[in-house]
Amino acid sequence: MPKNRLITRRHALHLGLGTLATMGALANSCSLNRQLPVKALDDSEKSERDLMVVRDAPLKDHAAAKGLIYGAAALTYYLKQDEEFAASIAQECGMLVPGLELKWKALRPSPDSFKFGAADWLAEFAQTHGMLFRGHTLVWHQATPKWFKEVLNRQNAEKILLEHIAKVAGHYAGKMHSWDVVNEAIEPDHERSDGLRNSRWLRLLGPDYIDLAFRATAEADPKAMLVYNDYGLDNDTPKDEARRVATLKLLERLKSKGTPVHALGTQAHLWAKDSTALNFKKLKTFLRDVADMGLKILVTELDVKDNHLPQDIQTRDRDVAKAYEDYISAVLEEPAVIAVLTWGLSDRYTWRSHFPRKDKAAVRPLPLDKQMKRKLTWNAMTRAFDQAPVR
Ligand code: G3I
Repeated sequence: MPKNRLITRRHALHLGLGTLATMGALANSCSLNRQLPVKALDDSEKSERDLMVVRDAPLKDHAAAKGLIYGAAALTYYLKQDEEFAASIAQECGMLVPGLELKWKALRPSPDSFKFGAADWLAEFAQTHGMLFRGHTLVWHQATPKWFKEVLNRQNAEKILLEHIAKVAGHYAGKMHSWDVVNEAIEPDHERSDGLRNSRWLRLLGPDYIDLAFRATAEADPKAMLVYNDYGLDNDTPKDEARRVATLKLLERLKSKGTPVHALGTQAHLWAKDSTALNFKKLKTFLRDVADMGLKILVTELDVKDNHLPQDIQTRDRDVAKAYEDYISAVLEEPAVIAVLTWGLSDRYTWRSHFPRKDKAAVRPLPLDKQMKRKLTWNAMTRAFDQAPVR
């Protein structure tokens, strides 16, 4: 957490789960504090942390004021049918990433066909609303079409991979801020010395499938930032430490080969209950090690799981908000971090609803609630952006 940033408590207004009207009133009353830096409360005070909002502007503006990008994942299906959600995405986000539409399962109904309609609709939505667009993902072991297992073999895997990348990255060439070229290639539990996941891609093509994918993407879209994206890089656990070590090893190997990798995407699917498991010193050292390779860093899929928190919404929302503020504040101390994206924007549409709480209460992992109202997490994110050093 940023140090030595003071705000007098009399200025700090505790903002509950207010409506926008409340937000407006408080934002005006807080605007006098616009120039005041904000103190990060230490552990002893966390229980009463004031999640004061300094100004009532969209998340994208709070981020942009510091040279950062804020965005979110969304699905064509929901944006098309839900005007309120579409308006919130357009209002809050400076970048859009398809949650499904650029994965093989959505794009490739058969070995010789491509279905770009849904992803093209998102690209157009982004353009219409002045948003950046990022691609997710060209190579992953999941979300593959049924024919993938039946058709792919040692003889044709490279050809099929290269054709896919040339076609898909080529289709959006010049329009993509960045691509998650390869997603989740690390799996230390597979006990390979290089820490790589023993995926079908690896079994058919060997570890060099990763280098191949980056080179093919660079050729198809020389303008896009090429990202290696993975999860489990956050917590102070042996498993996450092994994942961080394997990720650094992979990035170093790619850089040593001259592979055109430009950034690390850290998904950051966090647990509010385990936010104490976040060792910010270790996290920042890892990010610094990545930056020292000349790479940028994007937080690509941030959300906070509240399944293990009490059912009470005020308590849950507060703990989730603290996890967002603590994590974002910590990672933004690393100048190489250029973007924070949440995996969804509203609790109305979150993948985490596929993993229900034991008490069956609706999960609340995102900045807006199901009614598209800004939550304490929204406050916390604006504070973290406002506290961040300018890029
Ligand atoms: O839309 C269909 C629905 O019509 C059908 O009835 C239902 C039952 O099969 O499936 C629905 O599609 C599901 C889709 O999500 C929309 O909810 C797919 O089965 C399901 O596989 C898909 O899961 C997505 C998953 O990636 C796999 O693509 C999640 O929404 C998406 O949030 C998740 O995102 C991943 C990132 O790509 C990588 N990082 C982790 C992250 C979370 O798992």
